[in-house]
Amino acid sequence: MSEKFAIDARLKQLRAEIDEHNYRYYVLDEPQIPDAEYDRLMRELQQIEQEHPELISPDSPSQRVGAKPDSGFAEVIHQLPMLSLDNAMNGDEFMDFDRRLKERLDVSDTIEYVCEPKLDGLAVSLIYENGQLTRAATRGDGNKGEDITLNIRTIKSIPLKLRSDQTPQTLEVRGEVFMPLSVFENLNIQAREEDGKTFANPRNAAAGSLRQLDPQVTAKRQLAFYAYSTGLVSEDFKLGGTHLARLEQLKKLGLPVTSELQLATGTEQVLNYFEQIQTKRNQLAFEIDGVVCKVNNIDQQEQLGFVSRAPRWAIAIKFPAQEEMTKLLGVDFQVGRTGALTPVARLEPVFVGGVTVSNATLHNMDEIERLGLMVGDTVIIRRAGDVIPQVVSFVKSKRPESAKVIQQPSHCPVCNSEVEKTEGEAVIRCTGGFICDAQRTQAIKHFASRKAMDIDGLGDKLVDILSELDLIHHISDLYKLEKEQIASLERMGEKSAQNLIDALEKSKNTTLSKFLYSLGIREVGEVTAKNLAQHFLTLDAIAQADIEALEAVDDVGPIVAKHLRQFFDNPANQVEVKALIDAGIHWPTIEKKSDDELPLKGKTFVITGTLNNLTRSQAKAKLEALGAKVAGSISKNTDALIAGEKAGSKLKKAQELGVKILSEDYLINLS
Ligand code: IVH
Repeated sequence: MSEKFAIDARLKQLRAEIDEHNYRYYVLDEPQIPDAEYDRLMRELQQIEQEHPELISPDSPSQRVGAKPDSGFAEVIHQLPMLSLDNAMNGDEFMDFDRRLKERLDVSDTIEYVCEPKLDGLAVSLIYENGQLTRAATRGDGNKGEDITLNIRTIKSIPLKLRSDQTPQTLEVRGEVFMPLSVFENLNIQAREEDGKTFANPRNAAAGSLRQLDPQVTAKRQLAFYAYSTGLVSEDFKLGGTHLARLEQLKKLGLPVTSELQLATGTEQVLNYFEQIQTKRNQLAFEIDGVVCKVNNIDQQEQLGFVSRAPRWAIAIKFPAQEEMTKLLGVDFQVGRTGALTPVARLEPVFVGGVTVSNATLHNMDEIERLGLMVGDTVIIRRAGDVIPQVVSFVKSKRPESAKVIQQPSHCPVCNSEVEKTEGEAVIRCTGGFICDAQRTQAIKHFASRKAMDIDGLGDKLVDILSELDLIHHISDLYKLEKEQIASLERMGEKSAQNLIDALEKSKNTTLSKFLYSLGIREVGEVTAKNLAQHFLTLDAIAQADIEALEAVDDVGPIVAKHLRQFFDNPANQVEVKALIDAGIHWPTIEKKSDDELPLKGKTFVITGTLNNLTRSQAKAKLEALGAKVAGSISKNTDALIAGEKAGSKLKKAQELGVKILSEDYLINLS
């Protein structure tokens, strides 16, 4: 066998193998090999292609991210126009739709429909010629779109090559490109930290990502795709007689089709599906804004035909809006535990996303500036799922003459101390420290909270009362409280007073990491506190460590190190920490763990969903510090899945494979 032949054969094999793994991972959601093995295959492919550039083919899985084109996007004419959908705003309107169809079709039987989620993204057209993806375009105005082939190629669930030997000469696939919610949330968190240019919703984020001139940028955005219909198809390919059969055909060719599909016979089943998916909506990994209901039988579809821009045989049944307009009545500044002043929009109450909203966070002054908001503006509020309401934008044309500029306060609204802004940070802070009632009570609430000192019975309300009555000025005053003092408070009796005294006593027996976390040092969360404790073993060692020594700890960067130093250098804090230790707070001595003793040594974990307390990288760092490996996908070799909120396909997969499922709390409590 000649060398060239051998290289060619290996290339073919590698490409087929990688395509197969991509398909399993991105389309079927059933990865078969660990990420490391996938990476190894990809590296081998890239290396061979680098050594033999003449053997690179455009459908090679290494060729998804291409170079930036010289000019903008070329215009594309859709051979078959890309239509839109009529809307039904409620069940009654859908019943009317069904009645009209029965009249037109002249049938009395129930109509068979296919129900699909209405994905909130962008419609695209993909053209496959002889099995190869040759062109992808946006919908544009329905007749004319833009050529976005290079960007579409970066979407890993879209095959560059169809999975069949008998491929049609031409097959146009239509579907929706969207941004999964987890990707959207991370993108905005990152944007807020970097340049402040956030996206209002996943749809805009998907649109912005697809319209990038540089495919490298699009590739980073991790867009997803579901096919929902065919477009122009050459005659050599026999399409099925129902919509469902056609979707099955697309699936067979390797295209991703949502698994949330349902065949519905008659209106009742359609409306049941609508209810079902509405309840499920917050658990889906992507945003949907309703249900699309399509006549299943293609003959019937053809009989029904089109009206202007929309087919008569399909309708979108929409969910109640997640965005609404209302008035910005004012902006208040709330003071948090670390003194950060958070602007909060006071709104004329508005019903959005299923609840009445009268406040929305504005994050910080930079956000207000970015939005260009003024008091009196008509603003667009968005509340998706359980996410806190956000101000997305304002309506320029509705700005009244009386609109007022939103001033950054020069003094703390609670204690009147001056506020300061640190260079390079978006937040402004009250400089009052413990003089500030707001900071003090928040710090005490944090100290008493479950994950900190876990003082049972010392809830937020009670802290407010104790603070208002001037019974506690410092955290350590908690341990000076007497039973009689507590018992005399409103709604407290002998028994609850005794319980609180007992809980305070019990809390004194803690761990170094919990104590450290309880102090409320900026940026020192549970994981950082644990890492610090495990690294330094004693409080004194932490309190005395210099910046360099602190930065040697997992997860501690220059900023955290600076906050730690500032905290322990502050004489008032030194007094307070000593007072707490003198009050009797203690913890067991920590033994240094050697690598062999790491509790998760040899275990493979996967993380999915939204975590509440840890960032992804913190969670990963923590698992790795405990000896575990963190993989990107579930397989039978996975030992456990850490599942946060809105966990989707990975959770499902783990359940199917019987992989242990653990919560974020479990991870936090590991040591
Ligand atoms: S079918 C002729 N199916 O909704 C039928 N569209 O309002 C046209 N969309 O432009 C589309 N999910 O971007 C169809 N399952 C789904 C869909 C869907 C989302 C979007 C699509 C279309 C818009 C029409």
